[in-house]
Amino acid sequence: MSWNPDLYLKFQKERFAPFQDLMDLIIVRKGLRALDLGCGTGELTQMVSEVLPQSEVLGIDSSEEMLEKAALKKRPGLNFELCPIEKASGEWDLIFSNAAIQWVGNHDQLIPGLVSLLKPGGQIAVQLPANHTHRTQTIIAELAREESYSSALGGWQRDWSVLSIKEYAGLLYESGAQDINVFEKIYPHVLEDVEAVIDWLSGTALLPYFERLPQELREDFLNSYRERLRDLYPQAPVFYPYQRIFFSARRPE
Ligand SMILES: C[S@@+](CC[C@H](N)C(=O)[O-])C[C@H]1O[C@@H](n2cnc3c(N)ncnc32)[C@H](O)[C@@H]1O
Repeated sequence: MSWNPDLYLKFQKERFAPFQDLMDLIIVRKGLRALDLGCGTGELTQMVSEVLPQSEVLGIDSSEEMLEKAALKKRPGLNFELCPIEKASGEWDLIFSNAAIQWVGNHDQLIPGLVSLLKPGGQIAVQLPANHTHRTQTIIAELAREESYSSALGGWQRDWSVLSIKEYAGLLYESGAQDINVFEKIYPHVLEDVEAVIDWLSGTALLPYFERLPQELREDFLNSYRERLRDLYPQAPVFYPYQRIFFSARRPE
């Protein structure tokens, strides 16, 4: 999928709070091998590498555009590689991920697989958006079911892989992890106006639809989306509550 790093970074301030909450879950030890799944432009990878003394931190991502920006942050102990999350391998003291695994399917296989990559005593710490039932997201799915978009998309709809917090807790337990901590949090964002909400979604949830639609329908799809969102949010600023899931657990020593 083709990402636009500049559009994504536009909401850095709003995205910083969950970064910080994820950082707070990470147990600081020295000399770790740490893996960031879906590192994007590498801000969090860099922040984590700065708090872990004498550690080797690797960010992996499947987007060349995002990795181009991340590469500017490379230094000894901080590296980036083109690699899909599904192909993550090796042995790690820490596996972390911010706002990325929602793009990967089959979490009931993914999570146990990731826990199995942890060394004894190793930690997994993840944040993922769980905002897919919000109207800004369900409107995208509704539009995609309408003509002429539905035919152009061949009936395709984004299949959400995000599970409930109970299910993540269960998966971690069944994977043999301990010190399990799973919770949900709402970030009460206030965005300038409806255009800002559209920009946010254009940089994330709308991307797989843009990618699959022919050029001539993309603009149309975005305009239809804009119309519905303007009806939803006639006022400014716009209250945009955003729900996210966090989980952390350790492999026994
Ligand atoms: C919303 S961004 C988050 C980036 C970064 N973790 C952050 O918090 O700023 C999601 C990232 O996940 C990456 N991604 C999505 N699916 C992926 C996959 N299957 N394998 C690797 N990276 C993936 C995207 O390329 C993108 O950089």
